[in-house]
Amino acid sequence: MKIFLDDERPSPEGWTLVRWPDEVIALLQSGTVEELSLDHDLGDDERGTGYHVLLWIEEAVATRGFRPPRIRVHSANSSARQKMEAAVGAIYRLASDPPGDGKGPAAGESMDIRRASEDDLAAMLVIFQAVVATGDTLPFANATDEDVFRMQWFGAGEIAYVASVGARVCGMYKFGANYPDLGSHVASATYLVSPSDRGKGIGRALVEHSLAQAEGAGYLAMQFNYVVSTNTVAISLYEKLGFSIVGTLPKAFRHRRLGLVDAHVMYRFLGGHDLEPSPLKP
Ligand SMILES: CC(C)(COP(=O)(O)OP(=O)(O)OC[C@H]1O[C@@H](n2cnc3c(N)ncnc32)[C@H](O)[C@@H]1OP(=O)(O)O)[C@@H](O)C(=O)NCCC(=O)NCCS
Repeated sequence: MKIFLDDERPSPEGWTLVRWPDEVIALLQSGTVEELSLDHDLGDDERGTGYHVLLWIEEAVATRGFRPPRIRVHSANSSARQKMEAAVGAIYRLASDPPGDGKGPAAGESMDIRRASEDDLAAMLVIFQAVVATGDTLPFANATDEDVFRMQWFGAGEIAYVASVGARVCGMYKFGANYPDLGSHVASATYLVSPSDRGKGIGRALVEHSLAQAEGAGYLAMQFNYVVSTNTVAISLYEKLGFSIVGTLPKAFRHRRLGLVDAHVMYRFLGGHDLEPSPLKP
């Protein structure tokens, strides 16, 4: 079920209106909640706010392995909303931690990269939410919902892959043509690794895999349209794999902590096409 916590607004169609945090928590404990949309101020602070629900979820995720539902914040109180979105980010980061030591692939475990299916969607969305919650690499807001995500990752023209260790999805990428028709010989891709699995070679493996896939599919080049200039791990990884910064968009990204920062366009040819005088066949 979809739960809408509010004291004034009517619930959208398909959502169940709930008035108080303790009622939401009881429903969460019953395991029936798939999606949650939270207001902050509920008219009686003694009975708690939407933020208290997030504190309960965070504690349950951290201490009991509780699997959080998809969470949105619809409060109009901007400072409360910021605080709540930070809490949602923390919840998704905690939830994307693997069981065990939380340090990614254990000795003897191997990582596999395979085509993503709809069965992977929930795990992919958790990673996506954890990444966008930081507001420092991708241009999306916190509350990207499942339908938007599905369209972006499984929509027409997009091919998505996941990196998994055992049954656990720890990273993903998608690629497709950067532009249609006369620009369709240039691919573009997006990569995300779960925060708890970074620095273990998964990102590099995903980029290398995507280059091979794009080349195999006949693309002539790969272009990244919007690499945030402060995302030094991504930039140096791309440069090590043959990409160059071919342009910089001044102040094109509104970094959550740093304000307006530049974004780079990065580009590389595939399959030696840069060596050919006229790479495009008639
Ligand atoms: C960019 C991203 C995909 C890299 O994934 P990753 O699994 O951490 O990357 P890897 O472990 O393969 O490391 C890639 C390189 O960066 C280096 N690196 C990784 N983390 C680093 C860190 N914190 N500081 C310095 N270097 C680091 C590694 O040493 C590695 O270099 P090497 O291949 O020469 O050894 C990941 O950080 C991510 O998901 N970021 C958020 C989303 C994002 O920015 N996507 C790209 C948008 S353009």
